[in-house]
Amino acid sequence: MSEKKRIGILGSTGSIGCNALDLIAHHPEKFSLEYITAGKNCDLLIAQALTHRPKHVVIQDETQFQKLKEALAPYDIKVHAGNEMIVAITSHEVDLTVAAIVGVAGLRPMINALKYSQAVAIANKEPLVAAGDLVMACAKKYNAKILPIDSEHNAIFQVFEEHNRASIARLVLTASGGPFRVWTKDHIQNATREDALNHPNWKMGPKITIDSATLVNKALELIEAHYLFQMPHDKIDVVIHPQSIIHSLVEYEDGSYLAQMGAADMRTPLAYALAWPQRMQTSGQRLDLLRMPTLSFEDVDHEKFPSLNLARECLKAGQGACITFNAANEVAVDAFLKGKITFPMISHLIEKALQNQNLMQVSDLDAILEYDKTVRTQVQTYIM
Ligand SMILES: NC(=O)c1ccc[n+]([C@@H]2O[C@H](COP(=O)([O-])OP(=O)(O)OC[C@H]3O[C@@H](n4cnc5c(N)ncnc54)[C@H](OP(=O)(O)O)[C@@H]3O)[C@@H](O)[C@H]2O)c1
Repeated sequence: MSEKKRIGILGSTGSIGCNALDLIAHHPEKFSLEYITAGKNCDLLIAQALTHRPKHVVIQDETQFQKLKEALAPYDIKVHAGNEMIVAITSHEVDLTVAAIVGVAGLRPMINALKYSQAVAIANKEPLVAAGDLVMACAKKYNAKILPIDSEHNAIFQVFEEHNRASIARLVLTASGGPFRVWTKDHIQNATREDALNHPNWKMGPKITIDSATLVNKALELIEAHYLFQMPHDKIDVVIHPQSIIHSLVEYEDGSYLAQMGAADMRTPLAYALAWPQRMQTSGQRLDLLRMPTLSFEDVDHEKFPSLNLARECLKAGQGACITFNAANEVAVDAFLKGKITFPMISHLIEKALQNQNLMQVSDLDAILEYDKTVRTQVQTYIM
């Protein structure tokens, strides 16, 4: 490993990507930036390139290539565009790739990054849901370390005693409960886009914020935890913890619970992944133990939020069901954000897709992406 950690960021213009850049900027002695990638936000990508001076920038939206090229022409920064280049850039050898694209769009770059990166820090949970076996097999084959960034999985990673794996009674994922935790089922039927985007504790990108309102985020996290920690779903529980201070727990057979706590600030798990196996100082929020609210815990209301039980069914049914669950949700959330469907329709569309899809088992990358595309096309027909 070179003196400074060489970092690549997939999805630098998103909420996670911006936080990662913020942390890196505070430690120029620790990190050098190899590449950053964006989807469509060319102005922010240009601003990031000028501030952080990566060696390469990639924009997925090819129509903005010329603008990007002209803006960065005076500087020693190589400029690329298109989906293929986002995958190709991950062939640059780095010490750590931060996978922070949203959705299954991040799957191909993630798989390639596992080949060329010493470690991959994963925020982008959808590829693990759609292709968990493949992602974990690639990490093993190419000897790449996977470091979870999702706060719950990062918490579990910090307290998971691999040498005592057989003594783990269960993993407990905590959930804030989202903006509709105390709403009635009837009230939720009329939730607006603004209501759903109003998360009580976390400031995140739009897709995961809607996923938190439906609790689909927790369902995706259950599947993510199953693959990351190789635990059966019946040893993974979810508990509502509205204060978002305990980020998750591991219960051992001797009755000990090991938990990780901290403020609701993604810079803490991100810093953990960036500095791993060391730790580093961050400018993130701190927990003040003396002024902390009372910690409370509740059961999930499965009637109001059916997605968690659906995720368990998907894990039992296999990869095809997990791909369907995720793809239907991605299409539905996009349609909700664009005002095309109501909030309750998100869950209905996922259920309908699962009922109507021929749930085949697929394992290689092209077959997974093809299957994902088929589900998306099908769900679009339910919306039109
Ligand atoms: N935000 C959080 O606190 C948080 C916490 C835990 C886990 N996560 C997970 O981390 C991932 C990112 O979340 P986020 O909240 O940071 O999302 P976000 O703010 O929406 O950012 C998504 C990033 O992906 C890029 N992108 C979108 N579509 C793309 C495509 N087709 N090809 C290439 N790049 C594309 C976006 O580019 P443009 O903006 O330039 O279009 C942006 O850089 C998600 O999987 C989420 O579940 C997030």
